[in-house]
Parts: sequence; structure tokens; C-alpha cells
Amino acid sequence: MHIETLLAHLAEEGGVYDPYGASHLPIYQTATFDLKKQSGSKIYDYTRSDNPTRDALETVFAKAENGASCSCTHTGIGAIALLFETVLKANSKILVEKDCYGGTYRLLQVYKDKYNVEVFFADFTDLLEIQNLLETDNFDLVLCESPTNPGMKIIDLRELAMLAKNNGSKFAVDNSLATFASQKPLDLGADFSVFSATKYISGHGSTVAGALVSKWEEDGEKVAYFANAEGRSQNPFDVFLISLGIPTLPLRLKHHEQSAIQVAEYLEKHPKVNKLVYPGSKNHPQHELAKSQMKIFPGVLTVHMQNVETAEKLVAATRWFGEKASFGTADSRIEIPAKISHASFSKEDLQAIGIFPSTVRLSIGLEHIDDLLEDLENALK
Ligand SMILES: Cc1ncc(COP(=O)(O)O)c(C=O)c1O
Repeated sequence: MHIETLLAHLAEEGGVYDPYGASHLPIYQTATFDLKKQSGSKIYDYTRSDNPTRDALETVFAKAENGASCSCTHTGIGAIALLFETVLKANSKILVEKDCYGGTYRLLQVYKDKYNVEVFFADFTDLLEIQNLLETDNFDLVLCESPTNPGMKIIDLRELAMLAKNNGSKFAVDNSLATFASQKPLDLGADFSVFSATKYISGHGSTVAGALVSKWEEDGEKVAYFANAEGRSQNPFDVFLISLGIPTLPLRLKHHEQSAIQVAEYLEKHPKVNKLVYPGSKNHPQHELAKSQMKIFPGVLTVHMQNVETAEKLVAATRWFGEKASFGTADSRIEIPAKISHASFSKEDLQAIGIFPSTVRLSIGLEHIDDLLEDLENALK
């Protein structure tokens, strides 16, 4: 079955048991279930541990990622915390691609301070360095995004999975940017795919959500245990809000991609732009690797402007690009990562990943491309 078909049949494929044959996911907005009054194949008792609405989305996410099971969480960062709780112990070692989401960076500081977890940041495109690190130390977890954001590097997930496996480490990929409609980390060798569903998956920017998909049943059982024990599970109404975007995800992604390619072509030639980084551009040094891992390029671009003033003017002067955190919505967005999404990074760590106050991140929405290009042209005058 192709991903488009799976997502179009969300309720059916999610295994929804509904006496009326509801064609979309029914919302079981209840805290408890009466054990004496159930006739379904599965017995529910308490929504923190299990809920039919959430179960359906988890089943579809697990199928979409080709995993054994999935736990849906109340935020994307909650899913990353759930991953850490499942895999890490006090004094564990974790190896993380240094170009990671600002919230992940902040969460790692928490684990470092509270649980003495040793956090090693590295450049995952330097496979020799990663091999050396993994051979000289025992890591419980290796974690990266691909594409990285905002650096827009492509990590060779097949290679990383092999290196992590040889070292006995679990390998997790944050798939928020590419999404399962484009990239399947578990098929490339990862043990976990974790993502924020707040972005492309919801697509409407109406709520925050996350998910952690395990490749192996045994890991999935541990994840479900911690999701319940620590109360990380998503509530049914927010699951429903997320479900509204699911059937259109592949279509939307293709539109985002087409527009982003045109914006990239325009900005690449603009005299006020120092450098544009977009994996969907043929000029991206890892374009071929990107193509081998992703079916569709996401609509997020990183633009290094001539200087801070040009960057700030661009952000302020655009009409259709809201200065907002997050990405992957119908409306286009613009931000200076050093000020918003990556404000929790130390200045040195931000410079180490090549992000400066003159770096701008664009999330290309679903508006007409002519309006977006005209807007950028006016703002850059
Ligand atoms: C790559 C990535 N992972 C995780 C998150 C966290 O997701 P949420 O905001 O849903 O908690 C974000 C949020 O921007 C992100 O960009």
C-alpha cells in the first residue's frame, strides 16, 4: 500500500471500531471507560494509558514509518523527552548532531544537569569522526535530524545506522522536517523515528503534538510504559486536530516542495543573499544523497543574508511571511533562528553550526508562488 492510500483511509487503517462506520476518526473525549460495558476487541480503562482515538493515530503513524508501534505525545519535544526517558539512564552517554533543534539542545542541558548524562555534539557529515567517537566510547543513544535545521545538512542515515549498530547504540532520527511521507528512517536502519506533528503533519498550525515510533516491539513496550508512567500521552481532542491534516500530507508536501524550489532559484541569484542552503537545490553539495533518502523535499530554506540589517529588513518587510516560530503550515513563515527557534543555543555553539544573526529561515507555505516571489522581491528592494 502506498502512503497516500494509508493516510486517506486513516480511520479504517487505524483500526477504529465504530458501530456507525464513522468515516473519520471519532473523538473519545473521556477520561475513563466502563469495564462492564465494552464489546470491542480491546478493553480500555483510562485515557492516560490508552484511548481509541489516540490508538488509531498511533497505528497509522506506526504503519507510515514501518515501525512496530508508536506513542503519541502532547508535543514534539515531549516525544524527544520520552525517547530519552526510555533509552537513557543516569550517567548515560549520548551523541548528538550539533545542528539540532533549539528545544532539543535545551532538553539535553536538563538531562546533563539533573542526571549527569554526558552529551557529545559532533558533525555527523564527518563519518570518520563519528566512527572514531563510537569506537572509543559506549553511547546509549545516537540522535540526529536530517535535513538538519537550520543548517540544512543531509546526514547519511544508512551509514549512521550502521556505525551506531556496530557500537551497540540505539539510533534515533528526528523526522519532523522530512516527515514519513518523504523519508522513512526505520527503513534506513534507525531504531526510532521521533517527530513533532505540530508542523507538516498537522499542517494547520492548530495545536502542538509529537510521536515516537519504535522499530522493535520490545522498545515500543518500554516507550508505552514510560508514556503512561510519566503522563506524556496526547489527549483525544488534539489527536483529532492532528488527524485532520493527515490525508492531505503528501499533496501539501508536494506543493511546499514546488514553491520552495522556485523561491530557492530566485534567492540563489539575488545580490543581497550571500548563500542559500536548500537540499532541493541542485547546488546543494549533498543533493544526490538527499534524493536517495527523501522522496519530497520539505519547504524550509536557510538564507545567509549579506548582513544583519538586510536580514532584519527582510523579516520586517515581507507581507505574507509571518515572523513566527515553527514551520510546515499553510501560511509562510520567516524567522531569524538565533532570535527564535535557536535562542537557547550558546553563541559559540550557534556559530559552530554556521548560524549567525544574519541567517534567516523561511518556511514556504501554500500561498500562490507569484505572491510569494513578489513579496520577497519587494522586501529585498
Ligand atoms: C526538528 C524539531 N524537532 C522537534 C521539535 C519540537 O516540537 P514541538 O514544538 O511540537 O514540541 C521542533 C519544533 O520546532 C523541531 O523543529
